[in-house]
Parts: sequence; structure tokens; C-alpha cells
Amino acid sequence: MKIAIGNDHSGVALKRELTEYMESLGHTVINFGTDTTESVDYAVYAEKVARAVVGGQCDRGVLICGTGLGISIAANKIRGVRCAHCTESCTTELSRRHNDANIVAVGARIIGPELAKDIVKTFLETGFEGGRHARRVGLIAKLENGETLS
Ligand code: RB5
Repeated sequence: MKIAIGNDHSGVALKRELTEYMESLGHTVINFGTDTTESVDYAVYAEKVARAVVGGQCDRGVLICGTGLGISIAANKIRGVRCAHCTESCTTELSRRHNDANIVAVGARIIGPELAKDIVKTFLETGFEGGRHARRVGLIAKLENGETLS
């Protein structure tokens, strides 16, 4: 798969490790993140990755900031993004099976590199179940379009 990766200043080292890891799994990784530890604003990098994914340039996205929170919240403001902030692999697996997450966000100051690799591997290798979950994901899209569900 073609993977968009993005990060703020807190995620530079983890970005490098995850890039190498995903490449070792056979994926192509495109870097949209900052490459220095000079302080930057995570929303800028969330947008770059989000647009690459919803625009079809990349199949999935990986985002990294200090907690994983700010960058996931920002990414989820872009129509078509379903960004899951994950701290362990069970939630990550369900974010794919049930929510068809297209971007995963992790916190470089919260989890270590081995757990982050496990999360990313799970994210890339788990499929969407569809069925009733497709209906629910469809309802999320309706909310994005300003529709009222009830
Ligand atoms: C940057 O210091 C930090 O606020 C950012 O990486 C992230 O944790 C925000 O959610």
C-alpha cells in the first residue's frame, strides 16, 4: 500500500522508525511531516496527510504528535477522514473492522516504538467488515454533510 505519514516536532524520531518498519513490510511511505525538532503546528501536517488519503494519492495515513490527540482531532475535520487515535492494538483492529479507519494517530510521548509498530501493522493488515458497520460509517458521512440523523 501507499502510506502517507505526517508528524509534528515531537514525532520526528518515531516517524523515522515507523517509515523504516512499514517499508520493511513492503509498503511505500510518503513523508508529509516535519523533519526537525523545531516547534510546528500539528494541524498543518494533519491536513497534508488527510488530503493525500481522501484525495486518493495514498491508501492510508499515519499521524504522529506528542499525544496523538491534536493531530487526530485536526485530521477528522477533513471530509472523508476517519482517523483513529490508538494506544493499543485491540482498539486499532476494531477501528479497521468496524469503523473503516483510514488514518491512525499515535502519541510519540505516550507509547514506545515497539507498540507503535504493532499498532501500525495491525492498522495496515486488518480489513473492514462492512455489513451493519458500513451502514454506520455511512451515517458518519451524513453527519459530515450536515444531515440530521434523528
Ligand atoms: C506539541 O507540544 C504537542 O502539543 C502536540 O504534539 C500534541 O501532543 C497535541 O495534541
